Amino acid sequence: MRNDTPSHYSGTTRFLHWAMSLLIILQFMKLGDRINDGEHWVGQNIVPWHISVGALIFVLALLRLWWALRQRPHRPQPEAMPALVRLGHNLLYACMLLLPITGICTMLGGGYGLTVFGINLVAETEVEIPWLAAIGNLHSYIAWTFVALVIGHIAAALFHHFVRRDRTLRRMLGS
Ligand code: HEM
Ligand code: HEM
Repeated sequence: MRNDTPSHYSGTTRFLHWAMSLLIILQFMKLGDRINDGEHWVGQNIVPWHISVGALIFVLALLRLWWALRQRPHRPQPEAMPALVRLGHNLLYACMLLLPITGICTMLGGGYGLTVFGINLVAETEVEIPWLAAIGNLHSYIAWTFVALVIGHIAAALFHHFVRRDRTLRRMLGS
């Protein structure tokens, strides 16, 4: 597998970035439950996949974290405000890991069990585990924080591309 270089992101980095971006945006559709109690196309077709897609994101996020730590010495370095850029990226990683963890806590803490892509990993007990449910209650707060961080992240990428006119977005697109 190719490594990143100071001027380019490798195919592995770009695949993980864009595939996970798509999955994460699908996960944000869960906010659609707030509209008309989820009684619409999004609620009926995308939201039912929330737990399975979330579990897939968890596995990919662990792989991506391992890959990012290995690639850190080779990667493009931010030209401006490096501490802020690193903080932003670290917070994005934290959300990618904490959302599936707190989501799983919601399911197990509520005694609902856990089924991923049709495979029942933990059977439903209907017995509440209050401390797990309490951790699960953080899911929604972290999800809203993640939405704000992703909006800021996209705005920064577009700022680089259209205002500063540098290669930041192009190197993540692979051109
Ligand atoms: C990166 C992965 C995930 C993202 C981005 C995400 C995002 C979200 C969002 C945006 C909401 C709506 C919050 C609101 O309306 O205030 C939500 C709710 C929910 N999610 Fe997730 N989620 C993820 C993973 C998971 C996983 C893996 C599970 C279960 C195993 C899960 C279970 C739930 C449940 C039960 C709710 C409704 C209750 C609540 O708001 O806490 N999520 N999620
Ligand atoms: C939707 C969820 C997204 C998440 C969670 C996310 C997360 C990240 C993370 C963690 C990095 C650091 C490199 C890495 O470890 O992969 C990164 C880099 C980057 N992302 Fe995103 N991203 C998302 C969406 C987007 C979108 C939609 C765009 C474009 C409009 C974008 C543009 C970029 C660019 C240009 C970089 C390279 C920054 C640099 O070289 O300093 N990202 N992203």
